[in-house]
Amino acid sequence: MAQRGDDLVLSSIALRIASLLVVGEGVLCGAVSSHARRWGALARPNGGLLLRVPLRGRRASFPVWYLVKVGQPAALVLAGLLAACARTSNPNETVLTFSGSALGAEGTLVAKQLQRFMQLNPGVRVELQRTPDDASQRHQLYVQWLNARVGNPSILQLDVVWTPEFAAAGWVLPLDKYGPPRAEFFPATITANTWAGKLYALPWFADVGLLYRRTDLVPNEPKTLEEMVKSAQTAMVRRGGPRYGIVWQGARYEGLITGFVEYLGAFGGRIIDDKGEVVVNRPEAVRALEFMRDELYGTHVAPLDVLTWHEEEARFAFQNGNAAFMRNWPYPVAAMSDTGQSKVAGKFAVSPMPASGTAPNGHSTAALGGAQLAINAYTEHPDAAYKLIAYLTAPEQMLERAQAVGQYPTRPALYDDARLRGAVAIPLDNARRAIESATPRPVTPIYTELSEILQIELHRALVRQAEPREALNSAAARINALIERTGMRKLMSGGAESTPSSTSPTASSTVGHGE
Ligand code: GLC
Repeated sequence: MAQRGDDLVLSSIALRIASLLVVGEGVLCGAVSSHARRWGALARPNGGLLLRVPLRGRRASFPVWYLVKVGQPAALVLAGLLAACARTSNPNETVLTFSGSALGAEGTLVAKQLQRFMQLNPGVRVELQRTPDDASQRHQLYVQWLNARVGNPSILQLDVVWTPEFAAAGWVLPLDKYGPPRAEFFPATITANTWAGKLYALPWFADVGLLYRRTDLVPNEPKTLEEMVKSAQTAMVRRGGPRYGIVWQGARYEGLITGFVEYLGAFGGRIIDDKGEVVVNRPEAVRALEFMRDELYGTHVAPLDVLTWHEEEARFAFQNGNAAFMRNWPYPVAAMSDTGQSKVAGKFAVSPMPASGTAPNGHSTAALGGAQLAINAYTEHPDAAYKLIAYLTAPEQMLERAQAVGQYPTRPALYDDARLRGAVAIPLDNARRAIESATPRPVTPIYTELSEILQIELHRALVRQAEPREALNSAAARINALIERTGMRKLMSGGAESTPSSTSPTASSTVGHGE
């Protein structure tokens, strides 16, 4: 039995264990079982856990033993779990782990599709690994795992804005050698997943921001933001009217940026312009943020609660009949149409978020969101992982997803398929155009840091710790400093076009978090 004491590796192991513990025992088993034949653990009487860990070298993995102090009860539990995982693993089986969001009906659908994949591929077992639904929290967890070179989940669900970062960091594998059918997907979604000329993820579903409204309270689609607020106020004062006029995602996380992108566009503003200049503190942007703040403190159509809300809290409020309007993605349609759980089934419609009627350059804007599937660079089974990605992004599964969850396919051809009609809440042509014209967030490996800065500053203004102008000036200054520090200036643009052809990226989320 060899004992080694390399601090760096030890802290990486500790991190690995810590992140496994964060998400509980189900994940612990899922995360180690593909290695279970080579992982091992012995509980020591003094409360130590002797862990046998297969370390991955460039070509092969080799076992190393570590003594970890966790206290006796935890040591016993962990050793027991590892033993159980090892017992259930079959040496002839390839075990993949899959992580995905489980908003609304997503979780049930994924489990069903994975089951079918396993029936079609008897040598492969896929374990579902739950990750947080909050996009920013999921990102944090992935970064922790990948920094520690954990090979699970084997398939990563990436937000549309993460691919450049993960590709630049070497955390996901290029898919080109598998001959992915690029031309079958919306070009914008392929561009968003391409880094340095290589494709790193396949688009799974596309998200666009939508305005939901209660048709019994507001029969007509509002044509301007101002009209939307008026209708919200009218609905709220009706006898038996809802408590809230409009609900959105205002917590300090990625969802706040997507909502802001829509108000920003409504007033004719952007975060970064085509020349790569940071323009998020221009007057249009200040007015957009002022408008959001006025919804909270001026017209009072949005409850202060939204400052801690994500997608699901907003959905519950609307679904329970407590709001006249809601900003959200397409996924709530399925659950909200189900009379068993929804008080608004048959009483809501969706339309684009309107532009401001007072801004000459304002236009109706939908943020582009969505999920991609990529192969974890540390998985032992990249080929099987690709097989699963190809299966989940194939037309049949995508169509089923649209029918079960209401999420929009990333394959334009499906928009000519009659089976899609009824699955999405708006006419198919409108849905296709919504995706084609949706506004991407800046495409760059430093997106997460940029977004974090903006989240903090937007939230400061929305909780009235700072005036919108001051908050956005500070955001612009900090984003500019970040761009300079990482040498990203020439690669920046507000759209999805900034894909370099060959240069190696100079930054990843592993650097520069001390902004
Ligand atoms: C949805 C979108 C994603 C976005 C996130 C924000 O998951 O698909 O692109 O970043 O919401 O909460």
